[in-house]
This record gives sequence, structure tokens and C-alpha cells, in this order.
Amino acid sequence: MILVTGGAGFIGANFVLDWLAQSDETVINLDILSYAGNRENLASLAGDERHLFVQGDIGDSALVTSLLIQYQPRAIINFAAESHVDRSIHSPEDFIQTNVVGTFRLLEAVRAYWSSLQGEVRQNFRFLHVSTDEVYGSLAKDDPAFSETHRYEPNSPYSASKAASDHLVRAYHHTYGLPVLTTNCSNNYGPYHFPEKLIPLMIVNALAGKHLPVYGDGQQIRDWLYVKDHCSAIRRVLEAGKVGEVYNIGGWNEKTNIDIVHTVCELLDELRARVDSKSYREQITYVTDRPGHDRRYAVDASKIERELGWKPAETFDTGIRKTIQWYLGNQGWVANVQSGAYREWLKRNYTGRVV
Ligand code: NAD
Ligand code: DAU
Repeated sequence: MILVTGGAGFIGANFVLDWLAQSDETVINLDILSYAGNRENLASLAGDERHLFVQGDIGDSALVTSLLIQYQPRAIINFAAESHVDRSIHSPEDFIQTNVVGTFRLLEAVRAYWSSLQGEVRQNFRFLHVSTDEVYGSLAKDDPAFSETHRYEPNSPYSASKAASDHLVRAYHHTYGLPVLTTNCSNNYGPYHFPEKLIPLMIVNALAGKHLPVYGDGQQIRDWLYVKDHCSAIRRVLEAGKVGEVYNIGGWNEKTNIDIVHTVCELLDELRARVDSKSYREQITYVTDRPGHDRRYAVDASKIERELGWKPAETFDTGIRKTIQWYLGNQGWVANVQSGAYREWLKRNYTGRVV
């Protein structure tokens, strides 16, 4: 079996669902169920014995150790993290606790477990750490895309905490020989994306008749990848990646934020027109920029394509259409995640921001 951490979040849940759709290998899913973790994402697995959900912290060494001893997983895929840049600006400490201290404690427990393994089981064991392109910092307009050897230049508390975790993972390989793999991926989008992030926030706000808050001039660039393509890349790295290596994952799909928002509006105009027949574009509002906002991310994903034969299956056009259709078909999910805590966050991040 495999142990997945953070498997009730956006990417982790998509990964678990895809894994069990393609394999009968059991998944132990360790997730603390923070505001971003949601068991409803895994509702289709209710009663499925191949999915063992455990609520707990990757930083709880006793719990992790007991899970490792009891279930003897052949691999660990570490998704668990605080993942939202804006929240890291408001509350950086949570990011240090989970992304740095939590990853450190997880590595320690895994090192002890792996050291106790013998022969082929020990040789075939893998620890796959899921990271982000944000650790590389920000690019100027004409800079080449991030390769795996691009220097680390994290700019937000979130990316600095992820960079620290990447360094720890690297060090555990270099120093102790732990068989690690690291992936650094660009911006994901798709089903179960929590509506604090750009694409789901725009869909949810548009349908609710609210402002579509674009930070700064909206000309910041991100590379976008459909979440299921990220999941297939992780499966491929787990299966065939070379121990100790880093693989960048991306969609070859650079877009400005304002282009993304326009696309969301156009698709909603087509699929769920406003009652007054005006475009959702009317709801776009430019607001005060994110402090320290990275201008451009771009991922050179040629290594994973060349060495492991992985390529994304979706284009942005097909992926964004599927995403919007998913949100239109899952209004109950959207309503359930908009708890009091969610409304509190919107107030904290957006009040006073509109210019
Ligand atoms: P998310 O915030 O949606 O989910 C994170 C999950 O981790 C939640 O279920 C949460 O409950 C759980 N968690 C948080 N702290 C925990 C702890 N201490 N112990 C156990 N579980 C804990 O995040 P996501 O967007 O699904 O991202 C998953 C991973 O992928 C993160 O490591 C993130 O840095 C990385 N990543 C995300 C993106 C993206 O675009 N979302 C892109 C590249 C990399
Ligand atoms: O690059 C990978 C990273 O992508 C992941 O590591 C992070 O976990 C993930 O959250 C994401 O980070 P970003 O900061 O790029 O994503 P976010 O959706 O928060 O913002 C995308 C862009 O949209 C960014 O330039 C900020 C902008 N934005 C965001 C929000 C929430 C707005 O203009 N308005 C908004 O209301």
C-alpha cells in the first residue's frame, strides 16, 4: 500500500481518486482536515476498503510512526501543506509549522522506518515530496522558464516554507540515503479546488453576482496545469523517477491573470448566462496588489517528458471548460465549503482592498 498525506485537499483528493480508479493498491490517507481539507472530496470512496482515512498531523511523530509500522507502505506521497500565498502573508507561522517542522518530523519518522526495512523492500521504497514552482522566485518577461537547476529564490512566506521543505528532503537523501523524489509543479486547476484560489474564486464570485477581484494590473503570468495531469505526472515519477532527482511539472501554458478571468467570464456567459444577459466581465474589479507579488512563473517541463515520457493530456481550453462544468454541476459542494470560516477569510483578505 501507499501512504498519502494531505489527501483530503485539492490535489491530494484528486490523486487518491485517480489512484483508486486505476489500481487496487490501498491508500492510507493522513490528513489533519484543516480548513482546506474536506472529506466530501472523497465521498465517492465511502465504504471502499482500499481507502483508509486517518485524521492527523504529519508533525505528530508518534502517530506517523505507528502508521508506518502498522501498514508498512511501499511509498509515501507528501501533499500535506499550507498552500495559499495570501494566507501566508497574513499568518506565516502556520506555514512554518506544517511545511517546515511538519515535513521535518515526517522525514524523521520515515527515515527510522526505512532504516528498519531489508532487501528489496528497502531498495524499492520511495518518499515523493510534492512541491511548487514558486520556490524558484519570479521571472522577467523574456527569461527562460524554470529548469530543475534554476536557483531557489522564494519570495513569500509560503514559497520560503516550501523551499525549506525541499531542502530538507534533498538533505535526507544526500546525508542518509533516503530514496526521495521531488516534483515542482506550476498552478493547478480543476475539480475540488478551494475557492480561495484565483480560478475557483472567480467562478464562485461570478455566479454569486460578486466582484471579481483582480490584484494589481492583472498582468502577472502563471503556468496552468489541469490537476489530473499533475496526478498522472506524480504517478509516473513514482513509478520511474530516478532516486534523488527533481522533476519540474508544467502545462506549457503561460497566461496572464486577466486572460484567465476573461476566459472564465466567457465560458460562464456561454454555459450559465446572467439573467440580465450582460457579460460576467462587468463584475471585474481591479484591487490592491498582493504584497511581494511574483510577476511571472513559467515551467520548463522537458526533463519529465524526455526522461519519463510524461506529457499533459489536457490543453487549457479543454481543462478550463471541464472545470467550469464541474463547478456548475457541484453547487452543493461549493455551498458546503462556504462556511463561516470561509466568509471570515474573504473579509480578512478583501476588505479595504477594492480601489
Ligand atoms: P490544499 O491546501 O488544497 O490541501 C492541503 C491538504 O493538506 C489539506 O487537506 C489539509 O487538511 C492538509 N494538511 C495541512 N496541514 C497538514 C498537516 N500538518 N498534517 C496533515 N495534513 C495537513 O493544497 P493543494 O493545492 O492540494 O496542494 C497540495 C500540495 O501541492 C502542497 O504541498 C502544495 O504546496 C503543492 N502544490 C500545489 C499547487 C497548486 O496549484 N495548488 C501547485 C504546485 C504544488
Ligand atoms: O505556482 C504554484 C502555486 O500556485 C502553488 O504552489 C500554490 O499552492 C497555489 O496556491 C498557487 O499559488 P498562486 O499564488 O499562483 O495562486 P492563486 O490562485 O492564489 O493566485 C493566482 C494568481 O492570481 C496570482 O498572481 C494572484 C492572482 N489573484 C489571486 C486571487 C486569489 C488575483 O488577482 N485575485 C485573487 O483574488
